[in-house]
Amino acid sequence: MTPRPSTRNKAESPVEIVVLDTAGEAERYAASEIRSFITARREPVLGLATGRTMLKVYDWLRQWHEAGELSFAACRSFNLDEYRGLSADDPSSFASYMRRSLFDHVDMPEANYHLPDPDAPESSLAAYDLAIEKSGGLGLQLLGIGRNGHIGFNEPGADRHSLTHVVALDPSTRAANAGDFPPGVDVPTHAATMGIATILGAERILLLATGAAKSEALARAMSGPVEADCPASYLQLHDHVTVVCDREAAALLQERS
Ligand code: GLP
Repeated sequence: MTPRPSTRNKAESPVEIVVLDTAGEAERYAASEIRSFITARREPVLGLATGRTMLKVYDWLRQWHEAGELSFAACRSFNLDEYRGLSADDPSSFASYMRRSLFDHVDMPEANYHLPDPDAPESSLAAYDLAIEKSGGLGLQLLGIGRNGHIGFNEPGADRHSLTHVVALDPSTRAANAGDFPPGVDVPTHAATMGIATILGAERILLLATGAAKSEALARAMSGPVEADCPASYLQLHDHVTVVCDREAAALLQERS
């Protein structure tokens, strides 16, 4: 049964906020939004995200594919980011994450999915933005949010006009992601990420946040000022953003008057 979301919009922001009771409901809701987007488009172009938050979303997409209800054959996808210095075969790379959670299980041709080349010289990373543009642009960009308000790997201080580029990871981000690496292996210090302008270039943005650990970042992003210190707050500048969250993540969002 599809849960009934409660939707709250701040009068001054076009961001749509969908609050569901549990993380499981929020994950399924986000997955079904992606599914609707894919089925509505002839050539869907997806911006994809990694992180623990997305694992169940990809589970749903896989299940629907396996049930014969959803095809990725016409999709193209561009991932947000990748760690610098990790080969695509490294189990901790986002390329491996995407193959494990989605790509190896669905019918999207390998040539259709892309991640930024993390070891490309900075000057050639703009090629990623060009590839996105040549594909027709991002139709739906899926996003998680870091506890410090990062999106992709755009850390506090991110430039609103940035395209795909190399970033130094914040120590708090490296600590938060340490669990994705084997014991004793350091989280890389740098990554390649779509920039804020790349993300804001998407037609529609779908941000999924679950759990109490995301409540502060989500409140700053949606209810606070638009500022570089909280990169997710730049989403307030976009005119078609849907935030899907559970009650825990929504706990600090201001009630709409
Ligand atoms: C990661 C990714 C982001 C992700 C965020 C939250 O480092 N670069 O794209 O949204 O941090 O991750 P998680 O879902 O594991 O909390």
